[in-house]
Amino acid sequence: MIKTDVIIVGSGIAALQLARQLQEHLNVMIITKKKLRDSNSYLAQGGIAAPVGKWDKVELHTKDTLKAGCHHQPEHIVKNVISDGKRIVDYMIGDGAPFDRKSDGELALGMEGAHSIARILHSGGDQTGRFMVEYLLNALDEKTRIVEGEMVFELVKNIRGKCCGVKTKLVDGSINYYPASHVVLATGGAGAVYSVNSNAPTAAGDGMALAFRTGAALSDMEFIQFHPTLLSLRGESGGLISEAVRGAGALLINERGERIMEGVHPQLELAPRHIVAERINGERLSGKTIYLDISPVKDFEAKFPSITKMCKIHQIPLDEGKIPVSPGCHFTMGGILTDEVGNSTIEGLYAIGEVACTGLHGANRLASNSLLEGLVFGERLAKHLITSNKNAPPEIMESEQCGNPPEINFNGAELKERMMRDVGIIRNEKNLTRHLNWLNARSLSFNTDLDPLSQSEIQTYLMWVVSTLITQSALIRTESRGGHIRSDYPLENDEEWFKRSILLMKENHQLKVVYDEQHQIEIYA
Ligand code: SIN
Repeated sequence: MIKTDVIIVGSGIAALQLARQLQEHLNVMIITKKKLRDSNSYLAQGGIAAPVGKWDKVELHTKDTLKAGCHHQPEHIVKNVISDGKRIVDYMIGDGAPFDRKSDGELALGMEGAHSIARILHSGGDQTGRFMVEYLLNALDEKTRIVEGEMVFELVKNIRGKCCGVKTKLVDGSINYYPASHVVLATGGAGAVYSVNSNAPTAAGDGMALAFRTGAALSDMEFIQFHPTLLSLRGESGGLISEAVRGAGALLINERGERIMEGVHPQLELAPRHIVAERINGERLSGKTIYLDISPVKDFEAKFPSITKMCKIHQIPLDEGKIPVSPGCHFTMGGILTDEVGNSTIEGLYAIGEVACTGLHGANRLASNSLLEGLVFGERLAKHLITSNKNAPPEIMESEQCGNPPEINFNGAELKERMMRDVGIIRNEKNLTRHLNWLNARSLSFNTDLDPLSQSEIQTYLMWVVSTLITQSALIRTESRGGHIRSDYPLENDEEWFKRSILLMKENHQLKVVYDEQHQIEIYA
């Protein structure tokens, strides 16, 4: 059997960028619980933000990112990612990546919320994620092994505490063990733990829960971005209506045709996301229906083919120019704490893409910065692994999990509804405590042996872990900042919380809370 150097869990843009850069040097295996193309990246409508325009600069993009993130980021981390991102995107442009162009051949750069200049590259209008995934898949050769339909449910460590492989659960209940010198989590975010979300159903925070169970530190879990405009279908979401639609001129209006962002923020419809989401949420709570008025957008159907298709499927009459919208969970700013190449706090375990907390996004992600982050960290980690791979054979594994298998006595849909209601756009101590009590009453622990459970029971259990971590962090942060809004603490509290992160980790089978000033905690490197 061929020895695996690197296992990559997940198949979004960060995973594929890493795999294609490693394939000449190391033996790589990609494991995904569904199919290769089931990822948040594949769904991404918004594009890739990069300062490649004539009037743009790394410094300006850095400034916008810091502002959207409420300066809850170390500036050097942001600047370095954007600078690397510009280089990578320039390379991709030269390499013929299918970015949209204007009729004169110039790149068509789009505008999105909280950007001070048009800098978003799109492909196929609103199909950037799909085009980028296909572009990266095209560059993968047959040496990269792809395992589909197996759910990683345990990270395996050796006697020295180094991560040295994974266990997977198959649909028929059987288990496989894959040893490797390095394990990379690229499993995406946790949007799917909320009932209204824009994410792929697979993005339920698995990687965060697995890393936490194995002892890695997680950071900033309370910062969740709610996208202002999901297609609203009587309380359910029909999918994302990209911010690019507002960037192209669409307006947010109520039933009387009045613009709801006037007087709320100088950037109106293109204000930072949490501000627009909060405003729409407030209007909806007072019984109003909010619409995107798309009549100012020329050639809507040609510019936004997948949104057009989605609206048609749900019988929204686009010729009337109004799309009903409501906010929903979109992006997880927090995640597995990493350094500038993707090392976690556990030797041999790495995290890239949305599952990681790299310090780029701060308290709220600037639109379209996530595909950029995936490209940058995929490349950085590849360079790091190529130079540091010691080909150490995996040693004897140590299992920390013990106790009786958990009994899953609730269903995931109930947990998601409760997350939306109690840990949603606007939080407060009473609701957060109610949710935490409900989670605690499920009688589950962070250590139990998952071997006997089915894939779907494991999924529900991992959602319970992630939900606990988000709720716990949201309860601790007694202020409002970026994607964390508390009605009982409505203001930023710089004295207590400025540039202060909440780290969660498991110690002696219990949840331990540590405070971190600006990514200062020691990372394994
Ligand atoms: C959008 O198209 O509005 C989403 C883009 C993003 O979240 O980066």
